[in-house]
Amino acid sequence: MAQDVVQLTRRGFGETTRRDAWWMPQVGAFVVLSSFLAYATWAAFQNAHYEYQQYLSPFYSPLLVGDSPHAWFRQAPWFIPAISPALLILPFPAGFRFTCYYYRGTYYKAFWADPPGCAVGEPRTTYLGERWFPLVLQNVHRYFLYFALLFLIILGLDAYRGYWFTDAGGAKHFGVGIGSLVLTLNVVLLSGYTLGCHSLRHLVGGYLDRLSGRPVRRTAYECVSCLNRGHMNWAWASLFWVAFTDRSAGIMTEYQTIDHDVLVIGAGGAGLRAAIEAARDGTRVGVVCKSLLGKAHTVMAEGGMAAALANVDDRDTWRVHFADTMRGGQYLNNWRMAELHAKEAPARVRELEAWGALFDRTTDGRILQRNFGGHRYPRLAHVGDRTGLEMIRTLQDHGIHQGGVGRAYSITSNSWEYTGDGQALAYLAGAALTDMEFVQFHPTGMIWPPSVRGILVTEGVRGEGGVLRNGAGKRFMFENIPDNYRSQTADNEEEGWRYTQGDKDARRPPELLTRDHVARMIVREVKEGRGSPHGGVYLDISWIKEKLPDAAEHIRKKLPSMYHQFMQLAGIDITKEPMEIGPTTHYIMGGIRVDADSQMSTVPGLFACGECAAGLHGANRLGGNSLSDLLVFGQRAGQYAAEFARANTAPSVDRGVIDQEMRMALEPFERGSTAEGPYQVQDALQSTMQNLVGIVRVESEIERALTELESLRKRAERVGVPGNREYNPGWHTALDLRHLLVVAEAIARSALARKESRGGHFRDDYPDKDPAFGTFNHVVTRGHSGDMQLTRQQIPAMPGELAAIITEMQS
Ligand code: FES
Repeated sequence: MAQDVVQLTRRGFGETTRRDAWWMPQVGAFVVLSSFLAYATWAAFQNAHYEYQQYLSPFYSPLLVGDSPHAWFRQAPWFIPAISPALLILPFPAGFRFTCYYYRGTYYKAFWADPPGCAVGEPRTTYLGERWFPLVLQNVHRYFLYFALLFLIILGLDAYRGYWFTDAGGAKHFGVGIGSLVLTLNVVLLSGYTLGCHSLRHLVGGYLDRLSGRPVRRTAYECVSCLNRGHMNWAWASLFWVAFTDRSAGIMTEYQTIDHDVLVIGAGGAGLRAAIEAARDGTRVGVVCKSLLGKAHTVMAEGGMAAALANVDDRDTWRVHFADTMRGGQYLNNWRMAELHAKEAPARVRELEAWGALFDRTTDGRILQRNFGGHRYPRLAHVGDRTGLEMIRTLQDHGIHQGGVGRAYSITSNSWEYTGDGQALAYLAGAALTDMEFVQFHPTGMIWPPSVRGILVTEGVRGEGGVLRNGAGKRFMFENIPDNYRSQTADNEEEGWRYTQGDKDARRPPELLTRDHVARMIVREVKEGRGSPHGGVYLDISWIKEKLPDAAEHIRKKLPSMYHQFMQLAGIDITKEPMEIGPTTHYIMGGIRVDADSQMSTVPGLFACGECAAGLHGANRLGGNSLSDLLVFGQRAGQYAAEFARANTAPSVDRGVIDQEMRMALEPFERGSTAEGPYQVQDALQSTMQNLVGIVRVESEIERALTELESLRKRAERVGVPGNREYNPGWHTALDLRHLLVVAEAIARSALARKESRGGHFRDDYPDKDPAFGTFNHVVTRGHSGDMQLTRQQIPAMPGELAAIITEMQS
């Protein structure tokens, strides 16, 4: 025996004569506890992904400060330091665990050779507690217990809230989700652990002799004792589950994975048509949309869809439609797309009819067609003035498009979704964009109040005799009539008025010149300081009271929706006072460069159609060509995407990239409401584009815009938003900024490079068309360093047959 002692001393501290694997439980405990500690610290410093809808991670409960509905304080009061809310509370459960008496069997032995004894006074009277740090913490275990009991109540409330779901309308309803069960089990296990605490047992059962006449207290003591017997198991189970609960909230916050063969981005006309086509042969198709299904911007299209059905005028053929489209686009169009569009639009319209679209009818029951600018014959199949709505309804009932970029400008008729997502996503994925400088502006949109800025004011107001006046009340449109229109334009107000009243001998008033010219004239007035108070000019129809005795009644009858629009949205009676209007961004002809037949972009497997794709419209779009564009190329994109999916195996997705994107998307929440908000940056971006790369462009202003866009990019990277992910428009705007900046830069760079005026692009420093610029398209791509690069791509020669059509139609 004595010999053993000598050997032990010689071998040093901690040596033992035991030869079995006595250290295994300690090593196990050490590894598990250290991992837990490392994970908890990491999760606390992350300060992200700790809540998903109504579920809150226990590491962050109570959530003392934050922007979420779970938080106690939105702004940290002076006594709460500005650190991760998890770090504020983690010391309490950590302290409780570290001082737990019953962890000693494994837990303390894992760290110290000689674990401490029981720290509580009852019933032993001689134990004075530990004296050396950190074992001295054992004495405070009881105080940590009080906090632990408080936390149990809070976690219980969190679990209860986990059963209340919020529906789309904001109403709460009771339900059971996996998250609710995970939170509940967490509370059960923590209760088992906490209520079996050795200290609690002493508190409840101290001076047990006196319990004989106290059945409630005795029962409580027996319950605590019962739990106490399994304390070790509760301790480990609750430790594991608390980490699992935190991870669950994180995973739910992260993303769900859903497999599709074809994913359609956007549920406008083109997206839905593509989805129907792609799903025909059993391909698994998913549709992602930014707005509510059925509310896509396509519903705003009123005029109709252009197709050479020849129902009203039998001279119409695809060849005439092709030539009209090419002339409208000033021959920068992708001629193959213009050919396919003209040839296939009639079939797509009849197909829509067969699916149940209720078109207006001719007297003999065929689809009625109406006249529209730039179309030689009546060609627009329509449903009153709500053709787009009918189209979306039909497609939706029956069964990659992601709209325009109008929200890059302050004043736009585009709805809030139009932030260039399709173009920017494709660009960021490596696809080429083309002819982005061609943006179409409509001359008359509302500009005041700000909430209705950009809403279209129909051309019909000018058609009924409405005139444009500047801030000084002067009718400025007579001042600058282009030479090639001079012979067809009235040279005095009286003649203009007679034209609007149906006098066939009178010429049209200058207010009814082409949209691009009218828009430019308005901008010139504003830029030269003669605008209205809110940066537009006046459109006045009320003046006709000088001509007509019952003018107010006449206006209400002829322009009922305009009357209501201004009365309800701006509080203006258009029969008595002028409207304040300005040009509004309406459409972008440029977009993702695609193969004409298949609609595949320059990235294999990525297809684009609708407004986000480019080619069909060239430098300018004809009214009515966009709805038929959606149908023709939606069908083609869907068909070829499905064929591509069948012929190729699905690419693997790099989880690291997804994680990075997800982190970037959620970062605005981490910065919260203390950082600059996204709306300020969006507003600055829109003003930059509106003022410097708008309807009238000059080199110095475009260059200034590019410099400002660079600084806006830095601001956009730092924006913060309050709240959580559900129905949070501020967060959407923060995410949109990245896309808006991409399309804004693409528009600006292309506009700078096009040193001529053509179609939707007007350069004050190069006001004429330059034939050299009619031979190529601008192509924008992302360089290896991430910079935007612009090149020229020669337009391929048109086949003789198509060239002959154009020559024939010109004659
Ligand atoms: Fe383990 Fe109190 S002894 S929690």
